[in-house]
Amino acid sequence: SRALKPVAVAAAQNGAKNFSTSSQMNYKVVVAGAAGGIGQPLALLLKQNPLVTRLALYDIAPVTPGVAVDLSHMDTPAKVTGYKGPEELPAAIKDADVVVIPAGVPRKPGMTRDDLFNTNASIVRDLACCVAQNAPKAIMAIITNPVNSMVPIASEIMKKAGVYDPARILGVTTLDVVRAAAFIGDINGVDPCCVTIPVIGGHSGVTIIPLLSQSQPAVKLSDQEKIKALTQRIQEAGTEVVKAKAGGGSATLSMAYAGARLAGSVLRGLKGESNVVECAYIKSDLTEAPYFANPVVLGPNGVAKNLGYGTLNAYEQELLKAAIPELLKNIKTGVDFANKC
Ligand code: NAD
Ligand code: LMR
Repeated sequence: SRALKPVAVAAAQNGAKNFSTSSQMNYKVVVAGAAGGIGQPLALLLKQNPLVTRLALYDIAPVTPGVAVDLSHMDTPAKVTGYKGPEELPAAIKDADVVVIPAGVPRKPGMTRDDLFNTNASIVRDLACCVAQNAPKAIMAIITNPVNSMVPIASEIMKKAGVYDPARILGVTTLDVVRAAAFIGDINGVDPCCVTIPVIGGHSGVTIIPLLSQSQPAVKLSDQEKIKALTQRIQEAGTEVVKAKAGGGSATLSMAYAGARLAGSVLRGLKGESNVVECAYIKSDLTEAPYFANPVVLGPNGVAKNLGYGTLNAYEQELLKAAIPELLKNIKTGVDFANKC
């Protein structure tokens, strides 16, 4: 809030009219699933982003309008509105620039992300339908698991509605990147925010491929066994949180942080900033898998450029080989579901 103060003061000095009409800084962001473990802290963080002028919170939970009232008392520019239940969904989505989706059930210990498919697939399908009808140009950032299958579902729904643009549908894998940087920061004894590390593939188990050979600075691990152990820790970090929460859900706060970062980067791309790079799971022809995560440049229309994944060492090539069949299976599950709708 302190960092935002000058914006608020300038707005007050210029009057409300100037404040709300700045052409490049005037975005509507929707959080669908806004009352949940991720949704609430994500909304809290987005309310602090000066690029967000309208923040629409949607959930089926009755508390949602109350969450909006609560956040609306923060002295930051975004106007917050709350919407609950499917009948209010179109109004929430209307004219959105970005729709961030953390709606759906999380894992409990012993479950895989794929175990969430049956419940979450129809939630994402219905949200995507509404985006197709009310904000077809919005960038969708899908957090809901299993991400590997949810992005294909949303894509098929947009195709059916005749408004598909692959550059505008992102699966959110930012938490994998954030975790990899946090763990490498610890190992190297440096501030994790100075670590750049691509994580490619998808967002579950073996499909999460941290490219430790490309870390900047280089990871200070000499032997391959330690590299393997770090790779596995990053791949299983979600499960580490699920186990630690012991039935109380999965990662929420770190996910909110990662989701707010991704949404912020999408907005910076929309407003025309150059060199905005994030990893995301997108439609891709880089590998056999039709959807694949790696670094992309974000621009005025979503994904502006796929940066690929550079050179893999022998170990990373093995990881990629193991990931592809799993990705293909997850993607098929999503496409088949959407085509049965
Ligand atoms: P949660 O149960 O705390 O919150 C989910 C929210 O979704 C609830 O408020 C619920 O009311 C709402 N919801 C359910 N059906 C809805 C619908 N049809 N429309 C709108 N809202 C609806 O769960 P959470 O911990 O916030 O996790 C949400 C999802 O995010 C889970 O699927 C989880 O696996 C996933 N997740 C993904 C990542 C990632 O890295 N991509 C990280 C963490 C969690
Ligand atoms: C995560 O990576 O934390 C999320 O995908 C949630 C989960 O189920 O692990």
